[in-house]
Amino acid sequence: MNTKSRIRRLMGAGTSLTLLSAAIGIISTAPAATAATSGPCDIYASGGTPCVAAHSTTRALYGAYNGPLYQVRRSSDNTTRDIGVLSVGGYADAAAQDSFCANTTCLITIIYDQSGRNNRLTQAPPGHFPGPAPGGWDNLADAKAAPITIGGQKAYGVYIAPGTGYRNNNTNGVATGDQPEGIYAVVDGTHYNQWCCFDYGNAQTDGVADSPAIMETVYFGANKQWGYGAGPGPWIMADLEWGLFSGVNAGFNNIPSINHRFVTAMVKGEPNHWAIRGGNAQSGGLTTYFDGRRPNGYHPMKKEGAILLGIGGDNSITGRGTFFEGVLTSGYPSEATENAVQANITAAGYAPAAGGNPQQGVQLVGGQSGRCVDVPNASTTNGTQVQLWDCVSNSTAQRWTHTAGRQLQVYGNKCLDANGAGTSNGTQAIIWDCHGGTNQQWNLNANGTITGVQSGLCLDANGAATANGTKLILWSCNGGTNQRWTPRS
Ligand code: AHR
Repeated sequence: MNTKSRIRRLMGAGTSLTLLSAAIGIISTAPAATAATSGPCDIYASGGTPCVAAHSTTRALYGAYNGPLYQVRRSSDNTTRDIGVLSVGGYADAAAQDSFCANTTCLITIIYDQSGRNNRLTQAPPGHFPGPAPGGWDNLADAKAAPITIGGQKAYGVYIAPGTGYRNNNTNGVATGDQPEGIYAVVDGTHYNQWCCFDYGNAQTDGVADSPAIMETVYFGANKQWGYGAGPGPWIMADLEWGLFSGVNAGFNNIPSINHRFVTAMVKGEPNHWAIRGGNAQSGGLTTYFDGRRPNGYHPMKKEGAILLGIGGDNSITGRGTFFEGVLTSGYPSEATENAVQANITAAGYAPAAGGNPQQGVQLVGGQSGRCVDVPNASTTNGTQVQLWDCVSNSTAQRWTHTAGRQLQVYGNKCLDANGAGTSNGTQAIIWDCHGGTNQQWNLNANGTITGVQSGLCLDANGAATANGTKLILWSCNGGTNQRWTPRS
């Protein structure tokens, strides 16, 4: 086998030689050079800044990793299944998820740590703010909500709708105090919001925002409550607690909005020095958006070494985003090491899913009322009838995901449901545990109607009313604007 074909085999069939050549070119000029079979964590290790946590639902982050990437739990029987790699150091075995989760819903219960330190991420407990799940815990991510391809293989990301969060408050080897560290995450550049905080990285262990400087995470989104950048966002920022920072100033810093489908986002810190870097996770290199001293009040840092994903340090749960892979390192990585990691990420071949993603976490706005399909009082009780209510962009009770199985999911685990599997006019539209039945399947039609697969009836604002609290029912489709719904991101 010649060298090119051997490298192509090792990198995966979907990796183009152009991308590969680019990767090899960058790696060969970097002091942290490693073989083409390396994962990001091999590159960090070569650079003297090894990963102390490595999370991904899409691929192995070490060339020799052959363990589980993540675990899913299906609702049909509450059993779990680990999802591993297709080959040593390779891509996720999404077919295993598809088969285990067929005709039911699945949640991501564990994102394993590939570093060997067991810094896995699981359902986040309540912090200062409670989550929406029982006991104030956060929701788990819908395992099917973020399909993509990587190296030509199907894979799934971690879809963080508001209310979803993962955390580990008892880690091993993660930076504490003012110890140096690096963090990167590959995220969906089109899925974000302006609320706090779609974070990945180092956080406080008690879920309380009682001091600045106790966090150091990557943040991605368009939040302007603290720091922000030029244009409308989104931006890569750092959450350092008591503030997102886009540079040394507490407010505006002139970093550009990011506009890539897949984004590599990096933050790193050492005593009185930190940096933000990022780029297109599909091609090209990294840009340094900030490199300088700590903001006032953030030197020395007081990092506590917990790891979180999708939430703020105090369990603020209003952010949204999608995570594909990321790591925390021990030590402050060099730019050469990070450049080689970026080359490895672009060579991995992230791409949108064939046929695009299903409607994810959208509001459904009534054509007549301008009001949203809403679960009253954000109730999670089976049988709650949905209603019209003023659209509130950060309300989890108004975010609906149309899945590949045609369900309209809310909160990641409840589904819009025709009450009692009714098929007559006036049947209440309620929420219920997702079970895959045809009374929980809906077609989103080109004319704006939403029709029940079992009944053929239209989702309808009762009595063509438009006020807050108007109940939604099923009714024969009649062309009325009280039966038209527009998805809004
Ligand atoms: O620092 C920004 C956010 O502020 C933190 O994530 C959260 O803990 C606090 O509310």
